[in-house]
Amino acid sequence: MLVPMKTLLHQAEKNNSAVGAFSVGNMEMVMGAIKAAEDMKTPIILQIAEKRLKNSPLELMAPMMISAAKNSSVDIAVHLDHGLSIECIRKALDYGFTSVMLDCSLKPLEENIKLTKEIVSLAKTTDATVEAELGVVGGNEGDTEKHIITCTDPDVAKYFCYKTKIDALAVAIGNAHGNYPVLPELRFDVLEKIHKKTDIPLVLHGGTGITDEMFRKAISLGIRKINIATASFDSLTEYAEDYLTKENNHDYFTLSAKMAEGVYKNIVKHIEIFNNKEKLS
Ligand code: 13P
Repeated sequence: MLVPMKTLLHQAEKNNSAVGAFSVGNMEMVMGAIKAAEDMKTPIILQIAEKRLKNSPLELMAPMMISAAKNSSVDIAVHLDHGLSIECIRKALDYGFTSVMLDCSLKPLEENIKLTKEIVSLAKTTDATVEAELGVVGGNEGDTEKHIITCTDPDVAKYFCYKTKIDALAVAIGNAHGNYPVLPELRFDVLEKIHKKTDIPLVLHGGTGITDEMFRKAISLGIRKINIATASFDSLTEYAEDYLTKENNHDYFTLSAKMAEGVYKNIVKHIEIFNNKEKLS
């Protein structure tokens, strides 16, 4: 069933868990993600970033993501990740996305606040959830240019949330998009301060390559949504490569199933951690 993203964030808050937000770029990724969520009986967020629309047009992806969510046996939110333009956010809302992110994290604070407020009032028309980002997450979704990490300032986070009335805040605590060259040192001290000063679900971008222990610690400090993109794209590619190099006769249908399986395996692994049930069993 298609649900508002804030519903899933509030459930995660109650369960002391996090919802996985899995980036998708084609039909196999959507199918692998939905099957993983259904097999794990766990809600997820299906998302796509504006920069990825060059490869995977919104006109094709949006109806597929919405339809997959509506037909699923578990709750699914559909989210526009790293929205860069109001036009794109408006289109996503028109397609029925239940959540949008405006990423103005590289703009001056007051401009970020002004633009984010516009999105908050736009999203009210469909009761969609709004995520925004403060500080600078490393790497750069879909680009060669890399950003230098700047941690979110907890006091600025408090002011930003109060001014904008967003539903979820993406934080920068040493995390980065893409594969980490070395294991990152996440600033849990900064996360703890942000969590104490803001009464809002927090979002961790750059989930690929973060260890299980770090995920658990982040969840204990208020992270309620965790974004995973690169690990799913890589797993799909590995499964496809494996099929094409190890087997002699190839056909599209088997290749398609292998790609979906690669995504499925990666998502199941992450859902197991994000559900954060280990201590209870
Ligand atoms: P990774 O590609 O590092 O998993 O990051 C995903 C992300 O944060 C998407 O916004």
